[in-house]
Amino acid sequence: MGIGGSLSSGGGGVESGGYGGESGGNGTGGGSGSSGGAAAGGTSPAGGSAGPTGGAVNGGGSGGVPASGGAGGADMQSGGTGSGGADPCVVDHGTGIPALGDYYAGHFAMGAAIDTQYNNYASVLTKHFNSVTAEDQMKFEALQPSEGNFSYGTADQMVNFATNNGMAVRGHALVWHRQTPSWVYSGSPDQVLSRMRNHISNVMQHFQGKVAVWDVVNEAMMDDGTLRTNDEEAGQESGWFGALGESYIAEAFIAARAADPTAKLFYNDYYNYHPVRREAIYNMLAELLAEGVPIDGVGLQTHLNLEPGTDPNEQSYHQTVANLEEAILMYSSLGLDVQITEVDLSLYLRGITYTSDMFYTPQNVTPEIFEQQAERYRGFFDMFREHSDLISSVTFWGISDDNTWLSEFDSGRQDFPLLFDAQQQPKPAFWAVVDFCN
Ligand code: XIL
Repeated sequence: MGIGGSLSSGGGGVESGGYGGESGGNGTGGGSGSSGGAAAGGTSPAGGSAGPTGGAVNGGGSGGVPASGGAGGADMQSGGTGSGGADPCVVDHGTGIPALGDYYAGHFAMGAAIDTQYNNYASVLTKHFNSVTAEDQMKFEALQPSEGNFSYGTADQMVNFATNNGMAVRGHALVWHRQTPSWVYSGSPDQVLSRMRNHISNVMQHFQGKVAVWDVVNEAMMDDGTLRTNDEEAGQESGWFGALGESYIAEAFIAARAADPTAKLFYNDYYNYHPVRREAIYNMLAELLAEGVPIDGVGLQTHLNLEPGTDPNEQSYHQTVANLEEAILMYSSLGLDVQITEVDLSLYLRGITYTSDMFYTPQNVTPEIFEQQAERYRGFFDMFREHSDLISSVTFWGISDDNTWLSEFDSGRQDFPLLFDAQQQPKPAFWAVVDFCN
């Protein structure tokens, strides 16, 4: 995952701020907030204790998963006599582990971010996922480390691996304020603009036919709903804005459409559940669309925490299912496709300063924490499925807990934010995410 070099060269900003960084604001204490993400969702079918098989009902009959009748035929899928409002069905995955992507085939694609270690995860990756994103290897500094010298070797291997295994690739990311070499911003505005156009056309044409979706602009918005300028604190500033002002956003999309007219062009950003950011991103996209800027979709990163925060002034206070749902509805009302692009769910809460004695380790992390994580995942995925007509893919930012950017802070703090554990086995969160009837 190579955070070492790239993160620190990017100003180390991830740890101190930006997305779900390690140190939150100032501790408002122990974040009780048990109501967590329960804002919506929470209607999980009981799962687990399916009664004896037999009497399988499955009248609805679309999915490949037989809903085995629980005790006494209260299964509503048959449209039968069940008691209104009861669980609509009983989920039974039998003794096997369902393939995530297949199980979700009627809803949306399932993706994972991969890094250069992807071969070590090949079996879990190809079983469960039908889309991948290169975690770092298709960023500007990776593809064009020095001016005019494009370096496609690693990205090509990853893309070929994906296409050989029938997986789609989300291209990430063409224009971003991080992981972009500083030479890009030198010289006159015209020079910077032509470098941007040149990068976009070279990269998109190189991958044309293999990468059908691109994050064209990533993270243009600040937390207060203003555009990210070049005057932000270290690591947060945008050299693109510095050279070109806000026009860089429209210019990037226009260049991308010209480079590969077949590709779907996305604007990608984080904290979409935050009402101020949500609104600001909505307004920006609405304006760009009104001006005729070619944008096809919006990516919601969706880096989550175990519970929302307790400080109304901190972003994670707003981290509820209902708030994210509102973002999905707002963006799709603009006619944009919605993709959830970088899901993970940290065990740590914002607003608490964690000292090393408070760190979770493989030895001390409890089943209860993983159950709580599973329930929080459940709430979000129940909501995603309700909107599978609006959402075309959901991508996790990693595959299993042994390889996550959230464990790459200098403090050595480990996190366990994904559906699969370090042995690449399904966690309770995995079972919560597949706890529904097809
Ligand atoms: C992260 C990668 O996971 C790290 O390996 C890298 O060091 C820093 O970037 N939002 C994004 C992603 O759009 O590109 C970031 O990926 C995570 C936050």
